Amino acid sequence: MSTTAPGPVITAVIGDRPVPVHLAVGALDRVGALVAGAAAGDGVIVVVDGGVPHAGARVAASCRDAGLRVAVEAVPAGEASKNLGELERLARAAARAGIRRRDAVVAVGGGVVGDLAGFLAASYQRGVRLVQVPTTLLAMVDSSLGGKTGVDLPEGKNYVGAVHQPEVVVMDPAVLATLPPRELACGFAEVVKYGLLEGGDLMEMVAAWPALPGPAAEVADLIRRCAECKLAVVSQDEFDLGRRAILNLGHTAGHGIEAAAGYGGYHHGEAISLGLLVALRVSEHALALDPRWRDRTMDTLARHGLPVTLDPSVDVDEVVEIMSRDKKADGRALNMVLLRAPGDVLTHQDPDPAVVRAAIEELRS
Ligand SMILES: NC(=O)c1ccc[n+]([C@@H]2O[C@H](COP(=O)([O-])OP(=O)(O)OC[C@H]3O[C@@H](n4cnc5c(N)ncnc54)[C@H](O)[C@@H]3O)[C@@H](O)[C@H]2O)c1
Ligand SMILES: [Zn+2]
Repeated sequence: MSTTAPGPVITAVIGDRPVPVHLAVGALDRVGALVAGAAAGDGVIVVVDGGVPHAGARVAASCRDAGLRVAVEAVPAGEASKNLGELERLARAAARAGIRRRDAVVAVGGGVVGDLAGFLAASYQRGVRLVQVPTTLLAMVDSSLGGKTGVDLPEGKNYVGAVHQPEVVVMDPAVLATLPPRELACGFAEVVKYGLLEGGDLMEMVAAWPALPGPAAEVADLIRRCAECKLAVVSQDEFDLGRRAILNLGHTAGHGIEAAAGYGGYHHGEAISLGLLVALRVSEHALALDPRWRDRTMDTLARHGLPVTLDPSVDVDEVVEIMSRDKKADGRALNMVLLRAPGDVLTHQDPDPAVVRAAIEELRS
């Protein structure tokens, strides 16, 4: 059966190649047509998160309907799957399924599967086509876009990886209906980040957002706006040599808090919620940011169940210590992203560590 698929809602140009983003309810069932239409490949390996087998089955069925040879591999849900052992298992499954240079890897899941299957696509037979089908809010607005792929080592997160752009990204916002509230909120922390980076009506839309996930048509619009924001940055700086650093707003303090709280503490988006508040307070001191932006952001984050106070068990000295370790090897710079106003962003800032420490300390009250 051939239904004419609507066109992409965004076509970014990264390097010299277009990256179309399709975003619509029901788009899961059109993945096969998009893969088959994009090149002459006739085989795909669908790598699917164990938490969304139904989404994987629909994508696989659409690929079969499009006349593709299809292998399906499930990956156990969770960050622990983002490792070299799992990469080897998938690469061998691809080899046994006869996946060749011109075939494609289709990643169906959140950021874990996107990063893992993305790195499979980057490295298998020195690189095959990649299709990202993100199923979490975080993956839709962030991890499926921009081409960063990789796996973790015991020594550190994302320590082995590559930049490998997807040839198409397919988002079906209807899948968010099954995403647990905590995961939705974590994705929303990144949405708040985009609101601050862009300012203007995106910031207003984020501040006024109703209970998550929100009305279907508006969710699609919000995702599109955030995806446009990320892709606009990536298309100027694919390899993260300059401007792409603005995407780290809230992430220097956020990573420090995430690491100091340890395993079982904050999820990434929760730590970013706190990291954004630190970045805004430091921006008030360093760049005279109007304090009402921090107040408004705090209200927005709290309203969606994100933390706005720091757990008392987290050691502030340790957070600052991790933040200063987390820098490039150039002296003592904390290397933060700060704002003069929403939409007016400065990267590579080196604020006074005492001000940063006070901003984190303040989260305890
Ligand atoms: N490549 C990048 O640029 C980039 C950017 C940000 C984050 N990341 C990476 O992304 C990962 C985090 O991604 P995540 O937050 O999507 O987490 P995740 O992939 O672990 O998914 C979160 C949980 O949601 C479940 N799930 C996924 N989709 C679902 C759905 N539709 N319904 C119900 N359950 C569903 C998963 O099984 C999992 O348990 C981290 O490894 C991080 O390093 C990468
Ligand atoms: Zn993040």
